[in-house]
Amino acid sequence: MEKLLVESSGRLQGKVRISGAKNAALPILAACLLGTEDIYLEEVPDLKDVEIMCQVLESLGAKVKKVGKGELIINSANLNNYKTKYELMSKMRASFLVMGPLLGRLGKTENSLPGGCSIGSRPIDLHLKGFKALGAKVQTDFGNISAYADRLVGQKIYLDFPSVGATENIMMAAVLAEGETIIDNAAMEPEIVDLSNFLRKLGANVIGAGTSTIKIKGVPELKGARHSVIPDRIEAGTFMVAAAITGGDVVVENVILNHMKPVIAKLREAGCRIDEEGESVRVLCERGLKPIDIKTLPYPGFPTDMQAQFLALMTRCNGINIAIETVFENRFMHVDELKKMGADIRVEERKAIVNGGKPLHGAKVRATDLRAGAALILAGLTATGTTEVHEIYHIDRGYENIEEKFRKLGAKITRAKVED
Ligand code: UD1
Repeated sequence: MEKLLVESSGRLQGKVRISGAKNAALPILAACLLGTEDIYLEEVPDLKDVEIMCQVLESLGAKVKKVGKGELIINSANLNNYKTKYELMSKMRASFLVMGPLLGRLGKTENSLPGGCSIGSRPIDLHLKGFKALGAKVQTDFGNISAYADRLVGQKIYLDFPSVGATENIMMAAVLAEGETIIDNAAMEPEIVDLSNFLRKLGANVIGAGTSTIKIKGVPELKGARHSVIPDRIEAGTFMVAAAITGGDVVVENVILNHMKPVIAKLREAGCRIDEEGESVRVLCERGLKPIDIKTLPYPGFPTDMQAQFLALMTRCNGINIAIETVFENRFMHVDELKKMGADIRVEERKAIVNGGKPLHGAKVRATDLRAGAALILAGLTATGTTEVHEIYHIDRGYENIEEKFRKLGAKITRAKVED
């Protein structure tokens, strides 16, 4: 087991390059099961979650070859299995994304219920509703889910909530179905658009990704493609907050500015100067931070995956700050950890009220989930003494070379073994 030791670091300064997006890479890797020829992927982040997804693909008969930094060649011509292993499924919720492609390609899939971060009940009813609408027989028993279909037939599917995973899974099941599928109230996240662009390169007929209505006309077969994964807007946002929280001056490179609108808007409200320059963004924060309010929403609203990092930031914004979480029902577990560091935060159901400006001090804290872990590092950068962040396997699931990237900006952060 490892931990991160974070010291008060002064102003972060310099440049940081953002990696490919975890949440785009994972569904794209799952979609590789649909192609029958070589698929070249670039900008695939080197993360634990990506490693697990590659193991899932291999367990189904796909060949996965690493050919360079962030580059993979995947060939799923000879799939020989439609059941995923419990050990892999339980490690990561996104492994469930292979269900749609397997159903589309092989007409059958069997999985155990997915694991992942503990941020609410995270049901999968919408995924299953979509599969059933396409004609699959879905069975759930003893923590296993199986779906079978002799043929999938396109349908109109309305999602009660614009779930990212359900939109992706249904899209991937529908690309090889007969006729037209229309997903209404679809999620509009940039990662959905990246998946759609990838599927189109494979030969799929998908239009409307990035809007709330996605239309998919089934095709008989998908082939190979070359694709580069979009930059990670959450990693970018995390480093932007790092600049803000330390009163620093950081240029965040390899970003799609259009994806960063809510984060940029809120940092400006807090009093930071943000310069948008092509594919990079400079965050400069010299004066004290003003209090802000955020409310998480599906895209293009403020991302729930940035809520924890902003809560850490709010502890430095003088006055009363409010964060409302509407996407997940149990996503304030980092509050107790921040409180151990001296933060003044009160949670009332889905609202966190942060009385910002109180000094933070180093403490032994726990990364309760991936983004919570990032928030604790951010808080540690401005706290006196040493912050020990434990259970950092969550952080490694989603941030590539996190401490190296932080160190290049002047952060005092090291990784150490946890003694028994
Ligand atoms: C994805 C992201 C995650 C992000 C989340 C919301 C990946 C790998 N993960 O997760 O980082 O925090 O989007 O932006 O891309 N829901 C249902 N029924 C379902 C599915 C979801 O009720 O069948 C609910 C969930 O409980 C949750 C909400 O919908 O409250 C959002 O979940 P969803 O958009 O599906 O998130 P994920 O795809 O799991």
